[in-house]
Amino acid sequence: MRAVQVKEFGGPEVLVATEQPEPVAGPDQMVIDVAAAEILFLDIQLRGGWGRDYFTVMPPYVPGAGVAGTVRSVGGNVAPGWTGRRVIAGTGPSGSYVGGGYAQQATVPAGEVFEVPDGVALSEALAALHDGLMALSQIEKAAIGPGERVLVTAAGGSLGAWLVPLARAAGARVVAAARGEHKLEHTRRLGAEDVVDYSEEGWTARARQATGGAGVDVVFDGAGGRIGRAAFEITAPGGRFFSYGAASGGFADIDADEARRRGVTVVGIRDAIAPEAQGRLLEQALSELAAGHIGSLVGRTFPLEHAAKAHAAIENRQTIGKTLLLA
Ligand SMILES: NC(=O)c1ccc[n+]([C@@H]2O[C@H](COP(=O)([O-])OP(=O)(O)OC[C@H]3O[C@@H](n4cnc5c(N)ncnc54)[C@H](OP(=O)(O)O)[C@@H]3O)[C@@H](O)[C@H]2O)c1
Repeated sequence: MRAVQVKEFGGPEVLVATEQPEPVAGPDQMVIDVAAAEILFLDIQLRGGWGRDYFTVMPPYVPGAGVAGTVRSVGGNVAPGWTGRRVIAGTGPSGSYVGGGYAQQATVPAGEVFEVPDGVALSEALAALHDGLMALSQIEKAAIGPGERVLVTAAGGSLGAWLVPLARAAGARVVAAARGEHKLEHTRRLGAEDVVDYSEEGWTARARQATGGAGVDVVFDGAGGRIGRAAFEITAPGGRFFSYGAASGGFADIDADEARRRGVTVVGIRDAIAPEAQGRLLEQALSELAAGHIGSLVGRTFPLEHAAKAHAAIENRQTIGKTLLLA
């Protein structure tokens, strides 16, 4: 079977298609015939050698934390009835990074497999696996009240496609921030009432203006770095700042004392999802899709062998919503 490997840490060109032996399910595993493999921003950072203090993958490795497809075979401790079902699956326990998704067949722990409801496309369901779960967790923690002002950075990306409509549904007035008119137009279609381009000078003043001058009550920061820091500056007293994004190079640099002084609660990536809430939130994400409350999540798709092109497109900020590899 074909699988794409990271040969060494480096740019997109280190992603190379290889032939690998077909996997066999261990006792507590399933093998999935992969229809689509998801690309997380983390895949790109890890491929470049980022996060070595925390993540342990070493080249050569097959990247990919999640797949959608049908169950091909199951291990001895797994109910045989799973075979043939349409599923999404994490390739390792949440919070770890095992990889293995960029392949025609993926071995996954049985506990990380979720059936896709009838009527939900596999590709859209795959966008629930990490993005939907993460977005619902942040929305739940934010406990948005009616009329609260919410700022979403990196709003044109995978998480934005969940956060913007979910925040709107919670009664918020949403300001979406992204780079370029194309992405801003996309966030308007998702339901953002106000949009700001953070590649332009003075964007925070425009975001503040959109809130009537009071600042924002909740920030969902997927961009991080200077963009995230600037978003923190316009967070109102009593606000909540969710710092899970490092797409612009690192997490937003926020001093805990300053946040306390200003009465802003900061929630970091480590507190993003309570382990005991994962199953419930993922089922909720799939229900949101089945009910049609959330949709049009997938932007660009690439053939598995073109993983390098897909990574380059994300790094060059040329994608909108979720990017997938089709096996
Ligand atoms: N998806 C998840 O489940 C999850 C979970 C935990 C943490 N996160 C983190 O949250 C952040 C956003 O995730 P995502 O899934 O929405 O990512 P994504 O779909 O890959 O999109 C990345 C976004 O980052 C923005 N960006 C800002 N500065 C960038 C730069 N210098 N280079 C490339 N992109 C840049 C891009 O929009 P503009 O071009 O408009 O700026 C783009 O929309 C990432 O740091 C990710 O690691 C994601």
